[in-house]
Amino acid sequence: MNLGNALTINDLKKLARRRVPKMFFDYADSGSWTESTYRANAEDFNQILLNQRVAVNLENRKLGTKMLGQEVSVPMALAPTGLTGMQTADGEIKAARAAEKFNVPFTISTMSVCSIEDVAEHTSKPFWFQLYMMRDRAFIERLIDRAKAANCSALVLTMDLQILGQRHKDIHNGLSTPPRFTPMHVWQMATRPLWCMRMLGTRRHSFRNIAGHVEGTGDLRKLSVWTASQFDLNLTWEDVAWVKERFGGPVIVKGVLDPRDAEAAIKYGAEAVIVSNHGGRQLDGAPSSIRVLPAIVDAVGSKAEVYLDGGIYSGQSLIKALVLGAKGVFIGRAFLWGLGAGGEAGVTRALEIITNEADITMALMGERDIHDVGPGNLYSNLLQGKN
Ligand SMILES: Cc1cc2nc3c(=O)[nH]c(=O)nc-3n(C[C@H](O)[C@H](O)[C@H](O)COP(=O)(O)O)c2cc1C
Repeated sequence: MNLGNALTINDLKKLARRRVPKMFFDYADSGSWTESTYRANAEDFNQILLNQRVAVNLENRKLGTKMLGQEVSVPMALAPTGLTGMQTADGEIKAARAAEKFNVPFTISTMSVCSIEDVAEHTSKPFWFQLYMMRDRAFIERLIDRAKAANCSALVLTMDLQILGQRHKDIHNGLSTPPRFTPMHVWQMATRPLWCMRMLGTRRHSFRNIAGHVEGTGDLRKLSVWTASQFDLNLTWEDVAWVKERFGGPVIVKGVLDPRDAEAAIKYGAEAVIVSNHGGRQLDGAPSSIRVLPAIVDAVGSKAEVYLDGGIYSGQSLIKALVLGAKGVFIGRAFLWGLGAGGEAGVTRALEIITNEADITMALMGERDIHDVGPGNLYSNLLQGKN
């Protein structure tokens, strides 16, 4: 199999497994503790049944819409993911370029390898910036200002990672703080020569949003120790208002699983919320995102946009999220696997696969316009919930 005949996101995952060193492949393909929430994110989509309609004119179907007022070719954004530049060299730049060409938003993580400036230099349209609130407020102020200077058109404030969920695979692989380099790592990299060659061809190897912007973070060891000590345990809703004021543009609060949190986020100024359990990487035992989506949609009403992430590995899941009321979705691993499988072209392939599946699903439900997809497409009868 190669990129050209990869038909599903799972095909891309298989390719990525062959091409990315084990520790970084595992870093993406893991959840916290038992990984039950990671698994539930995808599995719970199977409980949703769609209504089939026939004899409907299906010409000129439209998937295009807006997310936060921005035109998108399909209601899907790339989720912020840390260390994306370790799936392949310059990973953030490659993913951002694929997203830009596909006309969907790319979100750069605070914990990215390529910096905000690196991505801005290699793209022409605005992208989105994800912020982790840290104790060093002066650094956070500068970071927000840098995102503004780079023309980022929305800020995603992640609120579910002030304390770190534990991922066993990362610890076994030595991907801990500080990172430990052992012969095992050398071996894992040596067995992926193309990955190594590309890495040797770039100077972007550490957390470039932070390195060089905070004193005493010169080497990777110091940098990771500094970062781990920085997540602010005192994050409050007032901070949402503070971030919004400083950034000046739309703020999206990420990590909402409870309607009360959605309401608070909006009260303190969020224009949108992302229903998310961090891809099952934080509270293991939390419900899947799709399970809590309807309650959040009910609570939010028309006061803000509601997005969902977690377990979107097909266009069918994207459509199911819209059927249950989401305005759009974010994809994490789906694009990371594409990236590992084939760099920028691999991310494009992931976007094409999901979009194509979404289009076919929409058509088979008898819909021509993504704006018409909603609760009316849900199949329900007495058996619902029992399968
Ligand atoms: C490898 C990896 C790294 C991540 N890093 C971040 C991050 O830096 N900031 C953040 O807000 N979310 C991060 N997330 C969570 C994603 O933004 C998103 O919530 C999650 O991936 C969605 O689930 P999915 O991967 O099943 O699509 C990360 C997820 C993965 C898989």
